Amino acid sequence: MKLSEELDRKTLIANLGGPANVAALSPEARADAMEELLQNELNRVSAGKSKYPTVAELEEQVASRPFRRGVGNTFHSVSGNVQRLPPMPAAPTLLDFFRLRFATTANHCLQSAHLALKNGESEEIILACLLHDTVQELMKADHAWWCAQLYEPYVSEKVTFAIRYHQVLRFYPDEAAGYAYPALYRTLFGEDYKPEPYIENAYRILKDHKWYHLPRAVTVNDLYAFDPASHVSIDPFVDIVGRHFKQPKDGLGFDNSPVAHMWRTIITPDRPL
Ligand SMILES: [Fe+2]
Ligand SMILES: [Fe+2]
Repeated sequence: MKLSEELDRKTLIANLGGPANVAALSPEARADAMEELLQNELNRVSAGKSKYPTVAELEEQVASRPFRRGVGNTFHSVSGNVQRLPPMPAAPTLLDFFRLRFATTANHCLQSAHLALKNGESEEIILACLLHDTVQELMKADHAWWCAQLYEPYVSEKVTFAIRYHQVLRFYPDEAAGYAYPALYRTLFGEDYKPEPYIENAYRILKDHKWYHLPRAVTVNDLYAFDPASHVSIDPFVDIVGRHFKQPKDGLGFDNSPVAHMWRTIITPDRPL
């Protein structure tokens, strides 16, 4: 059996910081990461430890990295140096960002949107799935709040609500909806992780909210068994974006909206100040 077949794909994805990072790796870098993961797992098991880290073990790892885990994918590389980015049009559209800037998140989000389309979700949910993790290019900590803010001027309140609260609902299983706690989170957050009070408070409000089903649909169509080898085209979603995304005529980043600076930072992340 090949090394790649022996490994738990979800654990590998978690080890690399989530599905978004995996897409950006070359096959060689992915093979190296797999080898390192296998070695770490062997070390854990031979030391009599659980396959999953504890919260305290993850905390101890903080000072072992040259960056913090919450930093956006654009700002560091999981293997080697970051690369020069292609130029963007003067008035960039959402599709330009998918093409030229969402290098580490587009594939995962397209696969989620594709699943939502296949499951017969509404166009607003399909759009929410298409956008739900794209802000991880800029920021990963509390990413759903950042992501909802990034899109708030351009989409409906329902789309924003679905994006903002998928981060909360992913910690709470809902069997009736077909959502189980992902094994990926035992690796990412620690096997003994308990959601912080602000997450619990949000969940208490959400579970009785008339729009509970919106962020729940994002978690149900989110892909935890993400396949980096599979590529979904954006073509099936172009009309949905056209109907539900208010593209500013001056371009994202240049419309003087309260979030324009966030888009500009994604366009030019190499600016020193
Ligand atoms: Fe997410
Ligand atoms: Fe996701």
